[in-house]
Amino acid sequence: MSNNIPIMTLDGPAGAGKGTVSRAIAKTLGWQYLDSGAIYRSLAIAVQDAGVLLDDIGGIVDIANKMDLRFGSGEAPSVFLYGQSITDRITSETCGHITSKIAANGLVRQALLQKQREFCRFPGLVADGRDMGTVVFPEAKYKVYLTASAEERAKRRFKQLKEKGIDVSLMGLAKEIEERDRRDMERSVAPLKMADGAVLVDSSDMRIDEVIDRCLGLLAA
Ligand code: C5P
Repeated sequence: MSNNIPIMTLDGPAGAGKGTVSRAIAKTLGWQYLDSGAIYRSLAIAVQDAGVLLDDIGGIVDIANKMDLRFGSGEAPSVFLYGQSITDRITSETCGHITSKIAANGLVRQALLQKQREFCRFPGLVADGRDMGTVVFPEAKYKVYLTASAEERAKRRFKQLKEKGIDVSLMGLAKEIEERDRRDMERSVAPLKMADGAVLVDSSDMRIDEVIDRCLGLLAA
């Protein structure tokens, strides 16, 4: 599937630091970066904009097949849906919440599979999500399951949103994250779990540079 292109997958629950770590690894190695969560989140925005109901799976799949989604190539993450920037809109926790509902459906996941696999190009790929090492790139040579305590993850996400000027309560956020993680872990299709052969990295008491080094160390092992 990946034609010997090296792949590192990073799966794990919300707020574990996957995005920051994956981006930094991709930059260091000069590899492609796949933010699969952003693809699912963009679909949720497209579905909302089209006024399609969350139980209309046919309608959602149709949008997934047709949506014109592009990622900016700059340093800061940017996402364009039908040419319009949706970078800010996909960041909200409300978007994450709706996304996890849509993402629980197998037909929806199937419709987004190819879009994700297209990111696998030379010289390599760092793929960040929930099912990267289990379903999308099971053949990946380097697999990480990145986690942190629920408290730490809520705090990190809180800080991240605050920096973006988004006002949320820490307690409310912790509850939302818990609910989203439960949904992602308990769904019957491609649930969040450790992939076979994945290395568990608990970043609760680690600095970001330590986590990055730990992941990069897998390449040398
Ligand atoms: O990673 P991020 O928080 O952006 O993901 C948002 C939601 O998208 C997750 O909570 C999950 O429901 C869904 N998702 C998924 N599979 C992936 C990536 C994200 O189901 N590979």
